Amino acid sequence: MANKLCMNLHHASLLVADVDEAFARYEKLLGMHGEKMDGYALMRCMHEDFCLILKPAGDQKPFLDYVAYELEPGLTLAEARREIEARGERVTEIDVPLRESGLLLNDPDGNRVVLVERRRPKDPRSPVMIPTDRIPGFHPRRLGHVNYLTENVKRQYDWYTQILGFKLTDWIGEAGLWLHIDPRHHVLAFLEKGYNHIHHLAFELVDFGQMRAGLDHIARYGRHVTWGPVRHGMAQNLASYWRMWEEEHFIEFYCDMQVLDADHEPFVHPDDPYASNTWGILPPRTYFMFTPEAIQMERDQVYAYLMP
Ligand SMILES: [Fe+2]
Repeated sequence: MANKLCMNLHHASLLVADVDEAFARYEKLLGMHGEKMDGYALMRCMHEDFCLILKPAGDQKPFLDYVAYELEPGLTLAEARREIEARGERVTEIDVPLRESGLLLNDPDGNRVVLVERRRPKDPRSPVMIPTDRIPGFHPRRLGHVNYLTENVKRQYDWYTQILGFKLTDWIGEAGLWLHIDPRHHVLAFLEKGYNHIHHLAFELVDFGQMRAGLDHIARYGRHVTWGPVRHGMAQNLASYWRMWEEEHFIEFYCDMQVLDADHEPFVHPDDPYASNTWGILPPRTYFMFTPEAIQMERDQVYAYLMP
């Protein structure tokens, strides 16, 4: 197994149609805050550097730009680059806000991955102890993981474990893969669904009560839950998924994810409904689709009447 190069998820970068509109939307729906910079915006949940970058999409489709991870403490970009190139992968450099630079790679599905050097928080106290005049009453704790759909989950498994040293947590059957780089159950997951697409950005909440507050909150703004609340059997987290259709992904609100034992052994869960949701309800098939028709079917609740 390759040495682990990354210690945690740092941020996601999104290409958006209009930075001002997207900034206001993430502020309003998720309780995030941040700064508008020259031509882009940075957003955060609490006191972290930032966990979202909003960039103008220009001629491109509004979509996920890349996902960035922090390198292991003390590991420099130059050292990481040498290690990754020795593993046979091509690396280029990319400008990253508040950092001198980052390393850019493409995974086999074409998802862009960025690596930045670890920077310790300026204030070592727990985030709940740090005074603020910016953080609203409802806000997530942190950006916790990302999940993609893929046409080849085995290929993704090989790449993330062999090039970046991600660790296997669990499988569901042969088509669902969960990977970790810290004691939490997963920071990254893939579901083989026949095509490559970001599925969700997952924001950790404190508890199930805050999920209730969050779902009440988004419902007032006309965003409705596509799947949830559920209790994932594999990973244990309580989760609810709703669409951020502007950039073609879901937002997951989650809490109570499994913390791994130091001697965790990867497990292959049976591909049955209860590994996905111990409470028993599976998502509508539109949950894996991003077309306007699929979104409209959800808004019309078509699957509750008659699934065509
Ligand atoms: Fe998730």
